Amino acid sequence: MAPMYPFPEQSGHPGQRILLAERIRIAQELHDTLLQGLISASMQLQVALESLPLDSPPKPPLTRILQLLKQAIEESRNAVLRLRSSSGENLGLEHAFSEVNQEFDFQQQIAFRIVVVGRPRTLRGAVHEHVYLIGREALINAFRHADAKNIEVELEYAPRRLRVAVRDDGRGIDKRLQAELYKHWGLLGMRERSEKIGAKLRIWSRHMAGTEVELSVPGRVAFGGERSSAA
Ligand SMILES: Nc1ncnc2c1ncn2[C@@H]1O[C@H](COP(=O)(O)OP(=O)(O)OP(=O)(O)O)[C@@H](O)[C@H]1O
Ligand SMILES: [Mg+2]
Repeated sequence: MAPMYPFPEQSGHPGQRILLAERIRIAQELHDTLLQGLISASMQLQVALESLPLDSPPKPPLTRILQLLKQAIEESRNAVLRLRSSSGENLGLEHAFSEVNQEFDFQQQIAFRIVVVGRPRTLRGAVHEHVYLIGREALINAFRHADAKNIEVELEYAPRRLRVAVRDDGRGIDKRLQAELYKHWGLLGMRERSEKIGAKLRIWSRHMAGTEVELSVPGRVAFGGERSSAA
């Protein structure tokens, strides 16, 4: 059984976390305001242009304006993409998990946070995918089933392993379910994925005290030949 309280103090790289959150926020705002506005304006202009007769004098300048708008849309799209993706490959998992949280941000009573311990490192592509999908399932389960006040993801980049822990302080996994836990697709899939990459998956849960799912991936699997510069 894992003690669920208190949640550990936030550690890792506060500066990086703030920067990343800020980049995501700016990307979303750019997308939701500027980009959508430009798209809507260009669509309306397109319709207006189509209704003008071919020899109408304002047609050529309006067509040029439409081209400029389309160019601005393309550039804004690229800017949004850069803001979202060039926040450093090392921050891939943190970024991805913070996006899962955004899918559930209508549940405002839940406090969510991501704690990063150690210097984030790039994961091998296929491993990244499995680790992300395991963490995502654990996270979505916490949001959907736990009725938690706090949900936390901890990413620990240790020299010899990557550890991902998803914990909540909710109701715990129903005891009656535990015997046939792996008959459920979500938990079964997590188990299968972790076996596939040679990682260890552990689940602790206690009635009304929360759940913790911990994935531990050996360093050689997670990071391949890349040597850690972390102590
Ligand atoms: N963090 C959690 N807190 C409380 N209960 C949980 C938690 N995670 C899982 N459970 C319980 O374990 C059950 C099995 O979870 P699992 O992810 O395998 O299936 P599911 O979420 O019900 O369905 P699916 O993931 O296939 O959409 C859930 O239905 C829920 O009752
Ligand atoms: Mg599930």
